[in-house]
Amino acid sequence: MTVHAMMPEATHDEAARFAHVVSLKNFLMRNLEPKWRGYVDEHLTPQFAAAGRDAAEEYRDLERRLAKLGAYRTWQALTVAAQEEMWRSVGQCVDRQLGDLDTRAKTIDGGSVRTDSEFVAPRYLSKVDIHLMPGGYAADRGGDDVRQGAVFDKAAALYHMGRNGGELNDVRGHTIVQHLFERYGNLQPKRILDIGCTVGHSTTAIASYFPDAEVHGIDVGGALLRYARARSASLGQKVHYSQQNGEQTDFPEGHFDLVVSSAVLHETSFSALPRIFKEAHRLLRPGGVMINLEVPLRFDTHSTWSRIRGLFEALHNNEPFWIGAQTLDVGAIAKSAGFAEVLAGYQNATPKADRAAAPTFTTKSGPVHVVWYMVSGVK
Ligand SMILES: C[S@@+](CC[C@H](N)C(=O)[O-])C[C@H]1O[C@@H](n2cnc3c(N)ncnc32)[C@H](O)[C@@H]1O
Repeated sequence: MTVHAMMPEATHDEAARFAHVVSLKNFLMRNLEPKWRGYVDEHLTPQFAAAGRDAAEEYRDLERRLAKLGAYRTWQALTVAAQEEMWRSVGQCVDRQLGDLDTRAKTIDGGSVRTDSEFVAPRYLSKVDIHLMPGGYAADRGGDDVRQGAVFDKAAALYHMGRNGGELNDVRGHTIVQHLFERYGNLQPKRILDIGCTVGHSTTAIASYFPDAEVHGIDVGGALLRYARARSASLGQKVHYSQQNGEQTDFPEGHFDLVVSSAVLHETSFSALPRIFKEAHRLLRPGGVMINLEVPLRFDTHSTWSRIRGLFEALHNNEPFWIGAQTLDVGAIAKSAGFAEVLAGYQNATPKADRAAAPTFTTKSGPVHVVWYMVSGVK
């Protein structure tokens, strides 16, 4: 049994390969990575301090020291290899059933999808395959193709290793709604936009709380969006997906009550992020709310190792804007875009939003998947 009708099915051998990827990733992350963290904290940081240097400030230099160690380079190489094997094994599983998935998507009714064969993805998404996903988010064979959506959905469950809501990968969506309930409890959104929805993991979860709302998701890949529509519909949510750049959409001014993004800001660029916020501001009606959820590994709250790990993401997992997103004053950018009552802080991850739950939004950070960084504001 798959979690929804569009999820690619795995044979026994494919499932065994996926289990191998997950156990290798777990070993690298839970067994080896803490040793590097310890080496940095207990060995290199005191050495830097003895020389009158601040290891956290000079994390790039410290990383160069680490990279001279064969064992460290082996950890790096294995981490990249595990990621590549994840995409390879999932890609082969999807390709075995691709025709069937394309056809299945057409038989599932609900919502809509609008693609544009002339669409050009922004350079920061087309020039690198983010997360090493072959072809990147924009890959599309046209017609009824859903391949990139199926690959992303199947791989995401392995990638997050159960920490984002298992195969539904929807904890971030529930967490956005929890933030809304806690901080903007009076808002009853009738029109909602999710910018950078990918295959609708968060969009579908958000839609489930507002059955009367018209819910839209935009992203840059036609195959992602065709898959997303069928996936949402198979989970009982009618979502309208369209292939658009969040920096400039074709929706009318003041069209939405709520505009959200989830884990998108670190995949944009210095120049795109303010434009996305300005566009969100244009799209909201007065009194409407913008909520952005981001990775919580902000440089001002996290350890030296976290900075080094961020450098790894940027250089070896094709996340060129990772460090920019963790160091920028995102709240200030929201204010510059015109938002009032801007909040920036951390919200506990939750698998189910609840209006009656005790508030968890604070200024205290925590580990990724345990808390999320939120920046929100009102038009
Ligand atoms: C990590 S994924 C987001 C996952 C998804 N929001 C969720 O919560 O499951 C980042 C997504 O943002 C999209 N994205 C980044 N910049 C964008 C832009 N300017 N316009 C539309 N989508 C964008 C990428 O194409 C990618 O699909």
